[in-house]
Amino acid sequence: QQSQLIDRFGRHITYVRLSVTDRCDLRCVYCMAEDMTFLPRAQVLTLEEIARLGRCFSELGVTKLRVTGGEPLVRRNVVWLFEQLGALPGIRDLTLTTNGTQLPKYARALKDAGVTRINISLDSLKPERFQAITRKGELDKVLAGIDAALAAGFQRVKLNSVVLKHRNHDEVCDLVQFALDRGMDLSFIEEMPLGVIGDHDRAEAFYSSDEIRRDLAERFELLPTTETTGGPSRYWRIAGSDNRVGFISPHSHNFCGDCNRVRVTAEGRLLLCLGQEFSTDLRRALRANPTDDERVKQSIRQAMSIKPRGHDFELTEQPIIFRHMNATGG
Ligand code: GTP
Ligand code: 5AD
Ligand code: SF4
Repeated sequence: QQSQLIDRFGRHITYVRLSVTDRCDLRCVYCMAEDMTFLPRAQVLTLEEIARLGRCFSELGVTKLRVTGGEPLVRRNVVWLFEQLGALPGIRDLTLTTNGTQLPKYARALKDAGVTRINISLDSLKPERFQAITRKGELDKVLAGIDAALAAGFQRVKLNSVVLKHRNHDEVCDLVQFALDRGMDLSFIEEMPLGVIGDHDRAEAFYSSDEIRRDLAERFELLPTTETTGGPSRYWRIAGSDNRVGFISPHSHNFCGDCNRVRVTAEGRLLLCLGQEFSTDLRRALRANPTDDERVKQSIRQAMSIKPRGHDFELTEQPIIFRHMNATGG
């Protein structure tokens, strides 16, 4: 089936990121302010509504769904949602981005529900630093989560590390070695300026993918590849292993030209670009048409005409985008 979702620039949308909550058990410094106010329950889509959206998207030709947050696994009964999404015929890839703390509890159930791949955030292997970056996290819990995911037998478990100068930039080799030892891929991410976060100056903390590759070259031989998982990561193979290191470089290597995705916030806003505010209110479409999926699909189709060419991220003092990452779904 071809995607029915094609934007003004001819890009086919086959990948949808569904945020199921803005809440999280951590408070990562690049994602949230320390004293976040979370959305009132009534503004958040119900799990039934999210499942309905998943069905609409799959009928429109979307083949990959990624469930995001906040932290998706802190939402009550979220396994039920994965079961619904996992049963959709058109979905070839059902994935999850998580901070890992709840995986010891849920990894098996997620695998059974049809989750194919998991991305787990891990920015440091030093407990005190991990604690400082997440403002309240315990590294051991995430390491146990990674073990649980590996034991559950997903097609692929990937790590994500947001690299910040003076917080974890000197750990990039150790993080790659950690991933290699466990047969995992890892992506390094340049921080994106979403929301006012308070703790650090984003321009000062910027550490580019090129700098990371230079650092890695001291310990590893990286070979460029054209492989993709359909996301923004550009992968390099590590010589002598089956593993890859990815780089998500919104600042240094813009990847908007082949964008294939849109995202739905926890409130049901269909955001056409992570770094722009163009959006359509799908919560209203869902609630105004409780039994008519065609009307919801019509809203989604129409929204393709407002998908912008790309983001205009700049590392200035005030972000251009005031919504935080946790309210956006990454
Ligand atoms: P796979 O390729 O399926 O493994 O996933 P992914 O890398 O697309 O998703 P993940 O949830 O692991 O996100 C990793 C990082 O990529 C996060 O920081 C996201 O915010 C970022 N990201 C995902 N999609 C986009 C996008 O369209 N634009 C930008 N600028 N960043 C994105
Ligand atoms: N910039 C880049 N990546 C971010 N993430 C959260 N906030 C930001 C940001 N401001 C990452 C998380 C997670 C993924 C969904 O997005 O670490 O791996
Ligand atoms: Fe939670 Fe992920 Fe945001 Fe960290 S980056 S606070 S784990 S949602």
